Amino acid sequence: MTDLNLKNWWMPFTNVRAFQENPRIFTRAEGCFLYREDGLPILDITAGLWCCNIGHGRKSVADAVHAQLMQIDFAPPFQFGTPPAFQFAQRLMKHTPPGINRAFFTNSGSEAVDTALKIAHLYQQTRGKGGKSRFISRQQGYHGVNIGGTSMQGLPTNRQGFPVLEQVDFLPGMLDIEANAFTRGTPAHGTEIMTEAFEAIIALRGAEQICAVMIEPISGAGGMVPPPVGYLKRLRELCDQHDILLIFDEVITGFGRTGSAFAATEYDVVPDLMTCAKGINGGTVPMGAVLVKDAIQESIFSNTPTNVPEFFHGNTYAGTPVASAAALAALDVYEQEGLFTRAGGETGKYWEDALHSLKDLPQVIDIRNYGLLGAVSFDPGDLPAKSLGPKIHQSCLDNGLLCRAVGDHMVMSPPLTISHQEIDLFVDRFRVAVGKVLD
Ligand SMILES: Cc1ncc(COP(=O)(O)O)c(C=O)c1O
Repeated sequence: MTDLNLKNWWMPFTNVRAFQENPRIFTRAEGCFLYREDGLPILDITAGLWCCNIGHGRKSVADAVHAQLMQIDFAPPFQFGTPPAFQFAQRLMKHTPPGINRAFFTNSGSEAVDTALKIAHLYQQTRGKGGKSRFISRQQGYHGVNIGGTSMQGLPTNRQGFPVLEQVDFLPGMLDIEANAFTRGTPAHGTEIMTEAFEAIIALRGAEQICAVMIEPISGAGGMVPPPVGYLKRLRELCDQHDILLIFDEVITGFGRTGSAFAATEYDVVPDLMTCAKGINGGTVPMGAVLVKDAIQESIFSNTPTNVPEFFHGNTYAGTPVASAAALAALDVYEQEGLFTRAGGETGKYWEDALHSLKDLPQVIDIRNYGLLGAVSFDPGDLPAKSLGPKIHQSCLDNGLLCRAVGDHMVMSPPLTISHQEIDLFVDRFRVAVGKVLD
C-alpha cells in the first residue's frame, strides 16, 4: 500500500529486491507495539532491534531531546565538551561493575567494538607488550560490521568476502542442543569445551602474542545462547592467568536485558572493557560506548606524552549533547521504574514459563531463556536448513507479532516494560503463527 519510492535507500542487512516486492513499513510506535501503515498493531517482541528496552514513545526522552536541541545542538567533541556527556558518564558509573568508571562514547555498537579493540591494543603497546596483538573471539559471535568487528565475527555470512584481520582465533560456539536442550536459564554443559579450546589457542600462539578476548556474555545474534555454568568466571581466570584482557560485548546484554544493568554484574565477572549501545538511550538517538577499567586508562595515560591526545581516535558525533540528553532521560526511566532488575524478577519468571509452554509446538527442538531474552529452535524437517525460520517470521508478522529469525531459531528480546498480558499475547500469536506454517 505504500506510495514511498523504495529505490533510493539501500537498506542494511535486507534483501532489498524482496522488500521492494513486499514492503514492510511501520509508521508509528507506542509501548510494546509497532503500527503498520494499515494501522495493524504488531507486538514488538524484539524491542526494535534489541534496543527499545524502555518501550516505544517515551515523552520524557522526546522532551529532553527537544530541550537539548534548543539549548545547544552540537559543539565539537574534539578538545571541547558539553555538559550532558559528562553528566551521563558520571551517572552511568553507578551501574557499572567495580573499577569500571571511564566511558568513551561512540555512535553505535560497531564503533564501540572497533574502539574497544583499539584501546586494548593501545594498552598493550604503551605498557611495552607490543607483541600482544592477536585476539580471541567465538564462533557464532556477532560484533557489528566495521572491519575490526567483522574480523571478530563468528557468523560466516557476515565475514565471507570481506577483508578481515588475520590475527583472530575462535573459541567454539556455546549452542549445544544435544547436551542442553530445554534448559531454563543457565545450561549445564560447555565450560570444559571452552577451556580446552582456549588452552589449545594458547599452546598454538603463545600468550605473549594475545592482546584480548572479546565475547558476548550471552550470544545474541548467533541464536540467543546463555553461557553454561561457570563459563564466564573460568574465562576471566584464564585471561588473568595469561595476562590477556577480557572484553565483554554488552551491546545486547547491557541496560537491563539479563536482570542486572550489565551481564557482567549479573554473572559476577568484571571484564577489563565493555562495549554497549542499543539500550543506552532506549534506541532513540544513535549512541554507543566503551566502558573501561580505570586502571587501563591510567596505564595508557601514564605511558603516553602529556602534550598530545592519549588516544588518536574518535567520532564527530561522540557523546553529542542530544544523544547524551536522551541517555540521561532514558536512565531516569530505567532507575525510576526499576527496569535494570525487572528481567530478573517476577516478569523474568513469567516470561520463562510462557516461553517454555511452547515446547509442544511441532518441530521444536530447544527453548532457551535468560532474563528477558528467549529463543525457540525448530528442526526444519523437509525444508532446507535456515528456511523454516523466515517462514515463521513472516507468519508471525501476518499475525501481529514481530520476532527475529536467526536461521531456524526464533529469537526474542521484548521491551523490559512488557506486561503479563502482553507476554500472554505473544504466546497466543506465536502459537497461531507457527500453526499456520506447520499444520
Ligand atoms: C553484540 C553486538 N555487538 C555489536 C553490535 C553492533 O551494533 P550496531 O548495530 O549498533 O553497530 C550488535 C548489533 O546487534 C551486537 O548485537
